[in-house]
Amino acid sequence: MKIDLSFSAGQFDDLQLRDKNVAVLDVLRASSTITVALNNGAREIIPVANIESAVKISGSLFGEVTLRGGERNGKTIEGFNLGNSPLEYSEAAVKGKSIIYCTTNGSVAMAKSRYAHTLIVGSFLNLTTVVDFIREENKDFLFICAGRLNTIGFFSLEDAVCAGMMIQKLMKFESLELTLSDSAKAAYALYKSFGRSILKMLKTSEHGKYLIEIGFADDLKICAAIDSVPVLPVQVENKIKLKKEEPQVVVPA
Ligand code: MLT
Repeated sequence: MKIDLSFSAGQFDDLQLRDKNVAVLDVLRASSTITVALNNGAREIIPVANIESAVKISGSLFGEVTLRGGERNGKTIEGFNLGNSPLEYSEAAVKGKSIIYCTTNGSVAMAKSRYAHTLIVGSFLNLTTVVDFIREENKDFLFICAGRLNTIGFFSLEDAVCAGMMIQKLMKFESLELTLSDSAKAAYALYKSFGRSILKMLKTSEHGKYLIEIGFADDLKICAAIDSVPVLPVQVENKIKLKKEEPQVVVPA
């Protein structure tokens, strides 16, 4: 099983990701927010690459069950119902809703992965759940770190450290016969250097500092909470939904 990793989504187009098994990580904050929203009962998240697509898609959906969520420069997009803080995606706000979701990097990486064989969404919140899924699949996987605000194609430390922590957990399963690409090894090394305190790492990262500056310090605490929301967002027909538990097959005695 080979683990490959890209430090940003900028280099890909959707055809290059066709049939791959992809985990998109956008710790601050798209992956964390999607995980919270689905856990709070959102029906599905529809990731789009830009505001124009969000407006176009929402025109063809029913208003009362559809919300538009996302950000530009970390702040709510004009005319949208929700921004990109996980705190906004409460049960009262999102239960039963389809959310058209547009962010600077995270939703773009997800939209680019629409032809992937498997697309899952990972963060510190569901770290062990993601690792368990990849371990059980036992297939080659590509981690895509979504990258940094307004500068698609730029490196962000928090996504790399999260990927590195997942890789470290995968390495513990000797039966996996894991091969790591150079970039996957680099993410592992970054986790070793910066993973001691996740909250501290987020607070000192460039995007973390920016979010604190614009009033979202509490989001960092939520996004740093390892395994606090142990669910798996997966793509089903271009929408991100919660993975359902497979029914147990009971073999008669
Ligand atoms: C993104 O997609 O770039 C981020 O989720 C930005 C944010 O923190 O809102």
